[in-house]
Amino acid sequence: MFDSNPFIFKAVCLLILLRSFDAQEKKCLGREPQELEDGCTIIETKPLVFKGTQSEAVIRTKVAKIHEIYAGLEIIETDYENFDFLNKTLRVLKNSEGAAITIRKNTKLKRLGFWALSTLEAKKDGAIVIIDKDPFAQFAEKDRDALRDMKHLEFLSRIGVDPDNQCPQKFAEIVGYEEKVPFHNYWVPLTIVGVIGIIVVLGMVVWRTRTKKALKAKKAESPQPKDLEKKTDGGEGVPEKAVSMQGKVAPAEDPKNK
Ligand SMILES: *[C@@H]1O[C@H](CO)[C@@H](O)[C@H](O)[C@H]1NC(C)=O
Repeated sequence: MFDSNPFIFKAVCLLILLRSFDAQEKKCLGREPQELEDGCTIIETKPLVFKGTQSEAVIRTKVAKIHEIYAGLEIIETDYENFDFLNKTLRVLKNSEGAAITIRKNTKLKRLGFWALSTLEAKKDGAIVIIDKDPFAQFAEKDRDALRDMKHLEFLSRIGVDPDNQCPQKFAEIVGYEEKVPFHNYWVPLTIVGVIGIIVVLGMVVWRTRTKKALKAKKAESPQPKDLEKKTDGGEGVPEKAVSMQGKVAPAEDPKNK
């Protein structure tokens, strides 16, 4: 019978093979990788959380066989630049309770390696990826590699979704990362305002001293001609007042010229 129908034979073999694979699955509750039992292949109920700085070698062995995650993945406060722990093994990443991937407060994260992934799903009314207070938000906009990784994930999240859907699920949500961009932007206007302020204050100081001088000069000017007339009438020489004013203020010379 098998000989006459090789297709059925192959199908049966495949079924047996799949069954034996299935028996090897090891389901684990999500937690931090170093706390996992050895050999987990499926993570469920709670997210798998890469957090802080743990021994990379330990993490790699713990997550080496994981190929399905059903409660989301979190990358928190790590100093990894290249997240490639699951790059060649993870095939399914889902979370019906929230985002599929949460990236929070890492310092240098730039690359997200999920090359083997074929299914990426999050809670229907939320975002697929949440980037929370993380500089990755900036890399994802500018860095070519980071952008490509994100585009790949976005593509995966759209598979099977009706392309005519008017309101597709939000892919990435960026939370609480406004500090750095406005910080840079603030400096330019702040500097300009500061410089203008200084110029205005200096201008006012100069203007005040000038007007004061001018006022003094005027005061000095107006009595001078009379003094001059009177005194030159009466005698000779320049009056004492005029001399003293001449020493201080240049316009005091005017009466002479007149
Ligand atoms: C994932 O694996 C591919 C293929 O080996 C590699 O080109 C890519 O750089 C890896 N991604 C990361 C983030 O390491």
